[in-house]
Amino acid sequence: MSNNGLDACYEFRRREIRQMVKNIHGKIGSTINLSERIFLTMLSVTMSMLWGGSLNGEVAKLGLEIKDRLEEFMKLMGEPNLSDIFPMLSPFNLQGIESKAKKHVSWFYGFLESVIKQRMKLGEGPKMADSKDFLQQLLELNQRGDAKTSLSMMEIKAVLLDMVIGGTDTTFATIEWAMTELLRHPNKLRKVIEELDAIIGDQNVVKESNISRLPYLTAVVKETLRIHPPAPLLVPHMPNETTVIAGYTIPKNSWIFFNVWAIQRDAEFWEDPLRFEPERFLKDTEKRNYTGNSFHFFRLDQGGGFLLGFHWWRKLQCRF
Ligand code: HEM
Repeated sequence: MSNNGLDACYEFRRREIRQMVKNIHGKIGSTINLSERIFLTMLSVTMSMLWGGSLNGEVAKLGLEIKDRLEEFMKLMGEPNLSDIFPMLSPFNLQGIESKAKKHVSWFYGFLESVIKQRMKLGEGPKMADSKDFLQQLLELNQRGDAKTSLSMMEIKAVLLDMVIGGTDTTFATIEWAMTELLRHPNKLRKVIEELDAIIGDQNVVKESNISRLPYLTAVVKETLRIHPPAPLLVPHMPNETTVIAGYTIPKNSWIFFNVWAIQRDAEFWEDPLRFEPERFLKDTEKRNYTGNSFHFFRLDQGGGFLLGFHWWRKLQCRF
C-alpha cells in the first residue's frame, strides 16, 4: 500500500485504462454505457493490482454480476438499520438487512476462494516490477506458522473483499460524477480539454506522472469529491477510550459517524456550496491540498485540526 507498492503495479493500471480508452474510441459515433465501462475498468484495475486478474473478454459477464451485487450491497450498507440504533433488536433482523448483506458476502467469498485456489494451484502470480502482488504477500503471511503474525484464510478473504469494495465503488462513483458534472457544465469541460491539449497534446496519452502538471483536471476531481463524496458518512469509527473533545464527552465504544457530505456543502465555509466550481481549488492551492496533515479540504478558514474536530463534533450532535 506504499507509494513504492503503487508504482510497482503501475503497468497493470496503465494496461486497463488504455484498454478502456481504446474501447471507447472504437465506438465513436455510437451510444455507449459509460457507467458500465468505467465500473468494469475500475474493477479490472483493482483486481489486477491485487492478484493480476482482468475482466476482458468472456469474464466481462462476471464483472457485471459483481457490479449488480456491489450496488445492492452498498445500498444495504447505507440503509438506516434499526438493529444498529437499538442493538437489543438485532436478533430479530427486522428489516432483513443483515441476512441480505450476508448472502452477498458469501457469494463474494465464494468468488475470492476460487481466485485463491487457482493461485495456489498455479504458484506465484504475474510479476510486478521487483515485487510480488498483494495476494501473494497475503498468502505468504498465511504460511508463517506464527499464530500472532500469520493470517487465516478467512482473514485473507476479508482483506481482499475490503479492498475490492473499498477500491472499486469509490473510484467508479468519483469518475462517473466527474463526467456527469463536466457534461452538465460544457464550459468546464472545454477548460479540461484545453489543458490536456496544451500540456499533453492531442496525439498523446495521459500518464499518471503527468497529473501534477494538470492543475485544472486535479481541481475537477477535488470539486467532484467535495460535492459527491463516495462515502458520505465515512466508515463508522469507535473510540476505545472515553474522550473529551471541546467539552463534549464521547463515550468509549460509541459509534461515530462523520457527516462529510454536510461538512463539504456547508455554506459557512464554502462559497456557493452547491455550485460545481473547480476554480475554487485553484486559488490558494496550499489550503486546498487534501494530503498529509492539511485539513483545509474539509474546512477553509484559518482553524487547524482541533477546530475541524470541533466542527465535526457539532455536526455529529444530531446523529447521537
Ligand atoms: C475516490 C477514491 C476513494 C475514496 C473517496 C475513498 C474513501 C475512503 C474513506 C472515506 C475511508 C474511510 C476512512 C476513515 O474514515 O477512516 C476509506 C477506507 C479504506 N479505503 Fe478507500 N477510498 C478510495 C479509494 C480506495 C482504493 C483505490 C482502495 C484500494 C484499492 C481503498 C481501500 C480502502 C481500505 C482498505 C480502507 C479501510 C477500510 C477499513 O477500515 O476496513 N480505497 N476509503
